[in-house]
Amino acid sequence: MPMAETPESTSQALRPVRVWDGAVRLSHWLIVALVAFSWWSAGENLTWHRWSGYAVIGLLVFRVWWGFTGGGAARFTSFLRGPATLLSYLRTVGRRDVSTTPGHNPLGAISVVALLLVLAAQVGTGLFVVDVDAFDGGPMSDRVSFETGRAIAEIHETIFRVLQALVALHVVAVVYYLVWKRTDLITPMITGVKKLATDPGFAPARLWAFVVGVGIAGAVAWALSKGLRF
Ligand code: HEM
Ligand code: HEM
Repeated sequence: MPMAETPESTSQALRPVRVWDGAVRLSHWLIVALVAFSWWSAGENLTWHRWSGYAVIGLLVFRVWWGFTGGGAARFTSFLRGPATLLSYLRTVGRRDVSTTPGHNPLGAISVVALLLVLAAQVGTGLFVVDVDAFDGGPMSDRVSFETGRAIAEIHETIFRVLQALVALHVVAVVYYLVWKRTDLITPMITGVKKLATDPGFAPARLWAFVVGVGIAGAVAWALSKGLRF
């Protein structure tokens, strides 16, 4: 089974290494559940739909904060790479070898950023959406005209199609790694642990950063749920 070509790794057995901290894992699976709930509730109950959306806003704000302050593998600097690294990684994507990237690989990093940006556009437009009967909508819908609010509602729906496509691609990529590259990325997103030849020595998550992040995320979500009127 080919592995990273370092002198140590060729002679060392695989060992469990803590990669994803609890906050990354929890926020990922909460986002998955809330996007599914938002999809269902959009046509059922707009109050629940908005609450679910505010929770997604909080999780997105937290994830951005965590990208600067979280555990090693969560940091943007640890997985955002330049075009040269991306190109050389692209050449290895078709190979049937086990992927040994400790955190997000350079291609996966793009999908992470794309997913976060599209989610931000989804919730951002949601704030201004006006319902067909003009009586309901996002918490900032009274700041725009009925026509603009309806146009934003159309965009909100279109963005959801884009989100669906990206999520489908995301899941196909994860399954491709599982089946073709025999690399299970899903279990580490649940347990936080990957089997690696060498320990990259990721910095652990810090409690103060988590607490401050939750505070900021909660405050932003709350302020937006009030339409920035206090
Ligand atoms: C609404 C659906 C989903 C969204 C919006 C989503 C979004 C994301 C995001 C933003 C990340 C980056 C995590 C971070 O660094 O914080 C990620 C990673 C990941 N997701 Fe999802 N995800 C979705 C569904 C799924 C599903 C259904 C699976 C399981 C099959 C899955 C498996 C994974 C895995 C394994 C990773 C880590 C990939 C790696 O090792 O680089 N995701 N996802
Ligand atoms: C994960 C986040 C979100 C997802 C996936 C999502 C998805 C959707 C979808 C698919 C629809 C179209 C329903 C239909 O007419 O068939 C919709 C409608 C709507 N969304 Fe969201 N949404 C999200 C967040 C938000 C947020 C944060 C708000 C505002 C706080 C919001 C407010 C609305 C409103 C008011 C409608 C009704 C629009 C209308 O009647 O035409 N959404 N959403």
